[in-house]
Amino acid sequence: MILEALEWCLTPATGSARRRGFLSEQIAIRHRARRCRLAWREHLHRTKAFVAARLPEHGREVVVLGSGHLHDVDAEALMARFDRLVLVDAVHPLEVRFRAALSRGRIVCIARDLSGFDRDDPLTGRVVHAPETLDLVRGADLVVSVNLLSQLVISPVRRWAGRYDDADVLKAARRILDGHPALLGEARRALLITDAEHRFDGGPWEDLLLGLPLPEAEESWLWQLAPSKEAEDGRKEERRVRACTIEKR
Ligand SMILES: C[S@@+](CC[C@H](N)C(=O)[O-])C[C@H]1O[C@@H](n2cnc3c(N)ncnc32)[C@H](O)[C@@H]1O
Repeated sequence: MILEALEWCLTPATGSARRRGFLSEQIAIRHRARRCRLAWREHLHRTKAFVAARLPEHGREVVVLGSGHLHDVDAEALMARFDRLVLVDAVHPLEVRFRAALSRGRIVCIARDLSGFDRDDPLTGRVVHAPETLDLVRGADLVVSVNLLSQLVISPVRRWAGRYDDADVLKAARRILDGHPALLGEARRALLITDAEHRFDGGPWEDLLLGLPLPEAEESWLWQLAPSKEAEDGRKEERRVRACTIEKR
């Protein structure tokens, strides 16, 4: 607990990233990944392998969206094929910033909210990706979105829940989700890896993406997100992950 509080204070993050819970979520992911090391191993391996199998011989720049702690990103493999690795996330953990600082400019961290939502209001907010985000995505040889899509709506839905009609919140959340494949469609080539459905204790699968249609998955696997005893209510949660390539529209 003390270490987490220290990390919260020391990690560079904007006031908004702190208030919106991005920093605390990310610190929590580190601890969860450690506790669930064995259960997550297959998912992390499959994510890295999906990307590794689709890398060009050589490229100038690869952009990773939702890079976080790089648990599911093989940075070495990407650095071996690209001159520059650009990591984009709402918050970058200290160890990743440190690694970038030692990389002689080959790893760059960009802190940015990737939801693209232009105001904190589900009734009037629209997805308008920042020009810098569009330039980055359009200019890269490859863009990889790693286990980010379903996460884009967590913070906004948490903020809006109870303050707005559920139906309006869900509609706004769906607009945010729609905006992500659209952003990836601006890239020359993009790889989208996302958890798309979940279920508890082997029950029925539920959609995590509010009906968002995804391109046909080239690969799909299960992520044992919360083995029993991990979740507060003791329920076991697994997620179905889908991975696909998105070519420029
Ligand atoms: C489940 S994690 C993905 C795993 C991550 N690649 C790792 O290895 O830690 C989701 C990541 O998306 C980031 N994220 C969530 N919402 C975001 C947003 N609106 N804009 C940018 N990043 C966001 C989180 O900060 C987190 O690092």
